[in-house]
Amino acid sequence: MLPGRYGMISFEKLFNGIYNGITVLVTGHTGFKGSWLSLWLTQMGAKIIGYSKDIPTDPNHFLLLKEKGYFENMIDIRGDIRDIKKLDEVFNKYKPDIVFHLAAQPLVRNSYKNPIETYETNVIGTLKVFEACRKAGVKAIVNITSDKCYENKEWVWGYREIDPMGGYDLYSSSKGCAELLTSSYRNSFFNLNDYKIKHNTLLASCRAGNVIGGGDWAKDRLIPDVMISTSKKEKVKIRKPHATRPWQHVLEPLSGYLMIGQRLLEGKKEFAEGWNFGPDGEGNITVEDVLKNMKNYWCEIDYEVDNSSQQFHEANLLKLDCSKAHYYLKWKSVWDNQKTFEKTARWYKEYYNNNKIMSMLDLEEYINDANLGNIAWTQK
Ligand SMILES: NC(=O)c1ccc[n+]([C@@H]2O[C@H](COP(=O)([O-])OP(=O)(O)OC[C@H]3O[C@@H](n4cnc5c(N)ncnc54)[C@H](O)[C@@H]3O)[C@@H](O)[C@H]2O)c1
Repeated sequence: MLPGRYGMISFEKLFNGIYNGITVLVTGHTGFKGSWLSLWLTQMGAKIIGYSKDIPTDPNHFLLLKEKGYFENMIDIRGDIRDIKKLDEVFNKYKPDIVFHLAAQPLVRNSYKNPIETYETNVIGTLKVFEACRKAGVKAIVNITSDKCYENKEWVWGYREIDPMGGYDLYSSSKGCAELLTSSYRNSFFNLNDYKIKHNTLLASCRAGNVIGGGDWAKDRLIPDVMISTSKKEKVKIRKPHATRPWQHVLEPLSGYLMIGQRLLEGKKEFAEGWNFGPDGEGNITVEDVLKNMKNYWCEIDYEVDNSSQQFHEANLLKLDCSKAHYYLKWKSVWDNQKTFEKTARWYKEYYNNNKIMSMLDLEEYINDANLGNIAWTQK
């Protein structure tokens, strides 16, 4: 229980209290999503084993939180998911109850520059994580892929979990491959018919789209580019102003991953499948509109269209159909577009102007808003 702006928030009771006191291994914990997930899990009383190759950015959200003392009880390991020996050592030593697998080469542009590394990390690395889980008898695995795993038809409808995998560029297809691998690995080793008979592991995958929020400094992503330029009082160059993306705050899909993790830990095998977590229809707006909105919260934000650097293919229309998560999990978004843009712009503004880290306050506010909205994971 933490006293905060919203009174006492019972972090330990969220998700039916399942994460309190268990050992959770997070791959990619030094990354954008992984650092937010680790913050949330720590607050809920989980013992975290973080496994990442490096600190991918400077500044870095994980390090900023670590310096503030949020990760005092975390085991923070530098290791490569392509290194099966190291994975085995770590899994044997710490025996995690659940693994959230987020480590990846996550950038489209980088996949054109480093195709082999992208596939080795996103496909073979994922396979090695699964192998380590199998040998160690991990109870639950949540594999994080992407909305880009689907064969993109550039149409206005949302992709459903039953749609075919694909991927025009190498990053997207590596995520499509990671999904095919997940399904085949489940069939082969964690078959639902043999659950509790021949094995005790449930494996699910989660597909979310572009997420925003404070603390992302990855290269070639819109929000970090905008915020870095703004902090230097420069105009940001944007590549595709009319491309629509399903924008959502980073905490939204994380709540979905945590719900799936909860169900798997509870032994509910019908949840060991693929799941989409995207914003409602209003979340799909153009890059240009996102920037116009954010300007309301940090007026120095300024941009120009860069027509010179469109050498590589990127999807223009990409939307997820999240009916399955809405219906079976009762998962839904907590923050609308305005709140998401506000929280994101303010996080960076506070960081650059006042050297403040707003993450814990944002997490508390998010949980408080979810509670007020009777969102399923806050309820008993
Ligand atoms: N951020 C987004 O908008 C977004 C959208 C869709 C999907 N995803 C997926 O979510 C996951 C997390 O993305 P992110 O934005 O936090 O990425 P990030 O770049 O911020 O972090 C990547 C993490 O993976 C680790 N990593 C990379 N290669 C590794 C290796 N070989 N061995 C061990 N660790 C390695 C890095 O050290 C880092 O901790 C990825 O699977 C990504 O594809 C992200």
